[in-house]
Amino acid sequence: MSPFDRVVREILDQVSLVKVVSDYVPLKKSGRTWKGLCPFHNEKTPSFHVDEDKRLFYCFGCQTGGNAVTFLKLAGGLSGAEAVQKLADIAGIPLPERGPTDPAEDAAARERAAMMHAVHAAHDYFRGALASPEGERARAYLADRGIGPEVADRFGLGFGGDGRGLMAELARRNVPAEIAEAVGLVLPSHHGGGWYERFRGRLVFPVFNLDGAPIAFSARRLPPDEDGPKYVNSPESPIYTKGDAVFGLIQARQAIRHAHAAVLVEGNFDVLAMAAAGVEHVVAPLGTALTPQQLRILRRFCDRVILCFDGDEAGRKASRRAVALLIEAGIEGDVAALGDGEDPDTLRRDGGADAIHAALGRARPMVTYLLEMLIQAHGRTPHGLRKVVEEARDVFATERDAFRYGRYREELARLLQVDVREIRQMLRDPVQAASEGAVTSGTPAAERTLLELMLCDYALIDRFVVEDPEGSLLTDPEAREVWAQIVASRMGGELDPCDAIVLGVESEGGALRRRLAESMQADGLHPEPAAEFVQTLTRLRREDLGRRQQGLLAQLAEAQTEGRLEDAARLAAEAALMKRRMLSIA
Ligand code: UTP
Ligand code: MN
Repeated sequence: MSPFDRVVREILDQVSLVKVVSDYVPLKKSGRTWKGLCPFHNEKTPSFHVDEDKRLFYCFGCQTGGNAVTFLKLAGGLSGAEAVQKLADIAGIPLPERGPTDPAEDAAARERAAMMHAVHAAHDYFRGALASPEGERARAYLADRGIGPEVADRFGLGFGGDGRGLMAELARRNVPAEIAEAVGLVLPSHHGGGWYERFRGRLVFPVFNLDGAPIAFSARRLPPDEDGPKYVNSPESPIYTKGDAVFGLIQARQAIRHAHAAVLVEGNFDVLAMAAAGVEHVVAPLGTALTPQQLRILRRFCDRVILCFDGDEAGRKASRRAVALLIEAGIEGDVAALGDGEDPDTLRRDGGADAIHAALGRARPMVTYLLEMLIQAHGRTPHGLRKVVEEARDVFATERDAFRYGRYREELARLLQVDVREIRQMLRDPVQAASEGAVTSGTPAAERTLLELMLCDYALIDRFVVEDPEGSLLTDPEAREVWAQIVASRMGGELDPCDAIVLGVESEGGALRRRLAESMQADGLHPEPAAEFVQTLTRLRREDLGRRQQGLLAQLAEAQTEGRLEDAARLAAEAALMKRRMLSIA
């Protein structure tokens, strides 16, 4: 351990985790641990635990856990270094020099800071331009579309300016041209050197990160201009990844928490229209097709999503894809289908706020919506219904929860007006299929080994909570269940983790618990648990990246067939990055 790491450990020991967490979440003492409502997902009964002795937290609802650094990163949006600094301040322990840090990493951090500064300065300029005389064109356009100054202000809207002002302002604020170029504010001009301002003459929508700092822009063409694409967006940069950002989230997040749900629309203007109609828990995916990462972020704030996409073929297709993603992410969804040619913006223009609320009130459960759409597409003939079942099966296949899967199957039988037993032949749930040996053969070996190791050495339980805060490395449902049980008993439970598993064999059964109980009897199975733990963790990480890469490649193929070029380019880049990360894990 480096001297720096030793001090960090000392700081983590000194600082009360309960106090750190209490700044964000009220906690109540409950037995040996403290309990509260989880800040990382929406819940009504507390399943978020803090173990003061072990300096660890864990949520049994969303399976997020870690130490004080993890907590400040996830809850406070701090970077790792900022979190450590904050804790050092609380402890009153000075941090030593980091020692021989990686110079490349330092340079990258400095570059990111310069980029943040550049985008911030540009945002100030754009907002100023909207308020100034030259912004008259943009203000008139907003007024024409029924967007008042309060909504414009809430979303930090701006005007791109005349094409010369931004560069001058950036120079005044010491932003180097290369940095402005790197975040896509300007492009080198083809004729005669100089720079071309990317967003000039457009209505500018800033994109914020969860700290409330602007990181990118999406800019709409303004009449009378008709050249170029309707929207011009910031390219990706070290501070901005497209599929990770959600437009409107910073403005909506309180309302989303409050409503326990987020309304998802397609366009930036739809977000403004909804907000103007008093629907504040609204966000949009920024022009890309919805991504699993965006859902993962939304999930921190709510457990339900209401899709309200455009009433055209593209919107219906996007809804269908979104339903599949929601099922995969385990998020509940409703679909508020709009009439042909409508979108939330036209809806408000034609029928006011009432029409918006009425449309949301008509939202139906996502699976019902999906099945009705499939029936409409394929018809009620025997051939058609068979196609419906087959396509539904593909969408349902990613559901991990056997109970929910069973409900989808019932809904399918109900809408098809056939006996559920007949459907069951074609739609076997994954759990049942596994027990028949048809699909999977139980818990992957590496996941089982990891659990065995943690039962050999309980310190590894604490370590795994920190290593995998989002709990994404265990994929097998039984392994996740056992893991939750292990953490529960480690953190303030009555039983010792091994005893809990042994007793679980009797009460819950399951092949994995039985194997684990057997492994406790076997001597010398894991002579060096800590070293084997590191190896196993590495292997799981690599597999996780591999799975994500496969997912991206599948999305990429889809984007290519559908001719969504911008999505395809982004997905290809992400898949390549995933591969590089996979190779970089020794
Ligand atoms: P829309 O064309 O529906 O835009 O595209 P909109 O925001 O609803 O605008 P209006 O109401 O027609 O004026 C939906 C979203 O797709 C992205 C933008 O984020 C837009 O809000 N988009 C669209 C682009 O990135 N580039 C484009 O050229 C068009
Ligand atoms: Mn639109």
